[in-house]
Amino acid sequence: MKNRVSEILNTKYPLIQAPLNWLTDAEFVAAVSNAGGLGSFGPNAGRDSLEQDSMKVMREQIRKAQQLTNRPFAMTIGLNPQGEDQTYAHKILDNSLAENVNYFIIGGEPDEEIYRQIKASGAVLIARSYNPTPAEAQLQEHLGADLIVATGYDEGGVIPTKGNGTFTTIPRIVDAVSVPVLAAGGITDVRGVRAARALGAEGFYIGSRFIVTKENRTAENAKVKIISSTVEDMVLVAPQQRSIRNAKMDELAKRFADGDHDTFAETRKMGGTRTAMLEGKLEDGKISINTGIDLIQDQPSVAELVQRLMQDYQ
Ligand SMILES: Cc1cc2nc3c(=O)[nH]c(=O)nc-3n(C[C@H](O)[C@H](O)[C@H](O)COP(=O)(O)O)c2cc1C
Repeated sequence: MKNRVSEILNTKYPLIQAPLNWLTDAEFVAAVSNAGGLGSFGPNAGRDSLEQDSMKVMREQIRKAQQLTNRPFAMTIGLNPQGEDQTYAHKILDNSLAENVNYFIIGGEPDEEIYRQIKASGAVLIARSYNPTPAEAQLQEHLGADLIVATGYDEGGVIPTKGNGTFTTIPRIVDAVSVPVLAAGGITDVRGVRAARALGAEGFYIGSRFIVTKENRTAENAKVKIISSTVEDMVLVAPQQRSIRNAKMDELAKRFADGDHDTFAETRKMGGTRTAMLEGKLEDGKISINTGIDLIQDQPSVAELVQRLMQDYQ
């Protein structure tokens, strides 16, 4: 069953696998695209360490994905706050366009020049605010966004600091724009898909649930940890970050609760999602996941997960 989102994405299903820092690579992205969703490369895709040349690895990963699938996939570009330097974003964009990528997920406040260049290339632009508001969604639409992602506080990764939940964010953004809206934040099984659809979402942007799939490169012990944990095992370690507990995260959570708001930088110094999630050093870093963690109870293949989530769109 096609709808406006799957028409725009040229996919079987109105589903985007959301970018996951360090935790995507060509095999995984291509598996999602082959299963009927839109796979997406996140930052540090296919990279094992910061020593590797990021642009070279990115080009290799794109080429590999093109060999593994003839379906579309996306590149993610996280923008710096407006007024700050966007050189790195331009580098990713130029590199990706040179490799014939024509779907872009643009995170952050819209940047006119980046939007203009993507639209001029004929590529599809998927806009995602970090703290969605109707005004920002309308600006994204005005500047040419083809699809808008409405993200709520339930999400994994860097969470919206304003704390607005998915249930209220989706209809607020749906009412503000005429382009289709994808829901993000806490969608972990078909019940979440149905709830988001009832609120007006025409597509689904899912990150956390895809981490625990056979093709995802997350360390096996981190996947097991996610399966065996519940939301009670998670702590808020910074305004924009929650993690499964370990001694280091407990300490950060205490510092945060005591008023220290620089704790996010500490999680980055610990290697972000690379240390515990990619390298499997579970005590040395964060495990970032959504509040739907209780519903992640097994490790299906990507194709099986897509079928479960998209059972109403057959
Ligand atoms: C481990 C992890 C890493 C993430 N890394 C990024 C990232 O680098 N860039 C980005 O825009 N979003 C990132 N996200 C957010 C996701 O792309 C997406 O917005 C989110 O996962 C959707 O909510 P869900 O986790 O409830 O499905 C990350 C999420 C997780 C769980």
